[in-house]
Amino acid sequence: MPLAGLAIVLIAAVVAFLISHGMVSTNQSVNHSIEVRVGISELGRDIAEQNAGFRGYLLVGTESQKTEANRGGAAVTDQYSRLRTIMTDEPTQRANLDAIGPMLRERLDYIHTQMKDREAGGTGLADTIARPRIRQLIADIDTRLQQMSTEEQRLLEARQAQSQRLIQWLSAALAGAVMLVVAAAYLTVKDARQRFTALRNATREARAAAHAAATESEARIEAEAQLRQIQKMESIGQLTGGIAHDFNNMLAVIVGSLDLARRRIGQPERAERHISDALEGAGRATTLVSRLLAFSRRQALTPAPIETNAFLLDLVDLLRRTLGETIAIETEFEAAAWPTFADPVQLESAMLNLAVNARDAMLANGTLTLTTANRALYVGDTSDIADLDPGDYIEITVADTGCGMSEEVIARAFDPFFTTKTVGKGTGLGLSQVFGFVRQSGGHVTIESEIGSGTRVRLLLPRHRGEVQAAKARATSQGGLQGNGARVLLVEDDPRVRRFSADALRELGYVPLSAANGAEALQLLLDERDIAVLFTDVVMPGMSGQELAATVKAMRPDTRVLFTTGYARDDDNSIGLAQLDAPVLHKPFDVTELGTKLREILA
Ligand SMILES: Nc1ncnc2c1ncn2[C@@H]1O[C@H](COP(=O)(O)OP(=O)(O)OP(=O)(O)O)[C@@H](O)[C@H]1O
Ligand SMILES: [Mg+2]
Repeated sequence: MPLAGLAIVLIAAVVAFLISHGMVSTNQSVNHSIEVRVGISELGRDIAEQNAGFRGYLLVGTESQKTEANRGGAAVTDQYSRLRTIMTDEPTQRANLDAIGPMLRERLDYIHTQMKDREAGGTGLADTIARPRIRQLIADIDTRLQQMSTEEQRLLEARQAQSQRLIQWLSAALAGAVMLVVAAAYLTVKDARQRFTALRNATREARAAAHAAATESEARIEAEAQLRQIQKMESIGQLTGGIAHDFNNMLAVIVGSLDLARRRIGQPERAERHISDALEGAGRATTLVSRLLAFSRRQALTPAPIETNAFLLDLVDLLRRTLGETIAIETEFEAAAWPTFADPVQLESAMLNLAVNARDAMLANGTLTLTTANRALYVGDTSDIADLDPGDYIEITVADTGCGMSEEVIARAFDPFFTTKTVGKGTGLGLSQVFGFVRQSGGHVTIESEIGSGTRVRLLLPRHRGEVQAAKARATSQGGLQGNGARVLLVEDDPRVRRFSADALRELGYVPLSAANGAEALQLLLDERDIAVLFTDVVMPGMSGQELAATVKAMRPDTRVLFTTGYARDDDNSIGLAQLDAPVLHKPFDVTELGTKLREILA
């Protein structure tokens, strides 16, 4: 539409130009006609004047009349040639003018002859003979001039009429063009208004759509939050259900066996068998609890520097025994693998869990590959892993050639009690222990797997930069547990645990002095001089185990300290018990474990 409008405006401009041009050319032809008519009448007048001069000379013969007649002749010649130069455009007029030429010449010749005759004193005979011819000539010239004047008038009128018509046409065209321009402008404005309205409607619709999308996304976020809440509740339900189920089984064994033992108290052999069953059940419960604590990242870790390759190499024997002969074990170790800092017992347990999973996935036979690699992670590498700081890590990969895992299984594999194994085969706590332990140790664990192409589990553990002493995966020492009557100050807030601990100490040949809290313990310390060991719980109401130990150390620097705890926790995070600056015995413990620890610290 704007283009059409522009074209119409251009046409209007051209028409306006043509009109003005037409008017200019009309003016020019009017001027030309006027000039021609003036020329014609001046020629007539010059002829008449020459005539008058010539006649006067003939009659009177004065010199001035002769000069006048000659001047009149020159004027006639001039005027005639001027007319010839301006009358080039019109053939009829030009023919008329050309016809006058010979007549004028004939008349001039006659006048010259007459005047010469008069000069010579003649009588004007020639005049008598030629007069009728000259008269006729003058009349013809007059007639011709008259015709030319009339013709020029006619030409002028015809030209004026033609140009008038042209101007009328062009004016009509101009009016049409102006109307078209107005129409185009109207249409353009209308079109623009329609577009503007359409645009406004589109904007309104887009705004409405954006609003709807925002509302929808809010609703979706809310729905997702609800779904997450439901899933969380489901997980918690699954977790508590799992714990309750497993504990019930173990309690059934413990309670049942103890009941049987009590009934067989008179038959020590049978009673002892039932008691070992009960102990075995309790042992399994202990394992379950430690795995749960591992997952909750609340377990009491005793991290130590570990020479990674050597540690794993030591494990290979144990793995061979666990996996059986049908599974090959290969190692691909980084030559100068970095050491790490982690709890060796938990690391061993994690490796065992992974190896057992691999064995279950490989069924009859396959290959388990243990790999180590040094990894320097930069900001970009760790940004998608929550809580993992950039830095140096040692990567331990456990790869198998087993059945692999689907994406759904990978997504849930770390969930506690998630298992695809049949009842009694798996508790679903293996990978949760691995996950909890690795995360609590400041590292990360990922699974890479596809159905049918095996599984690779990668552990990233922080690099240790200090000295490494040979770390032992297990406390293996065992031997004489004789306490020799040494006094042990036992501080424990739970009365049952206190009673058991006191019994165990007595069993080992120590003399226990029991206190329920820090204050009681300090009181006993004032009364008793000879106390070899302070054996205290870490988390207690009132004075904590650490505070008590610090006070006792201040009073009696010789006193040794042994901590015990179910878990380590402070206000916002679990802490490594390595900070305690004294050995720790993890609950639950048996008599042998207590004896070993005491022997170690008293050695
Ligand atoms: N190497 C593997 N190959 C294939 N699937 C695996 C592998 N490791 C774990 N899984 C899958 O992940 C699930 C969870 O493993 P997890 O170790 O936590 O529990 P579990 O092995 O079933 O039981 P538990 O270890 O407590 O005896 C397994 O049931 C199995 O489906
Ligand atoms: Mg497992």
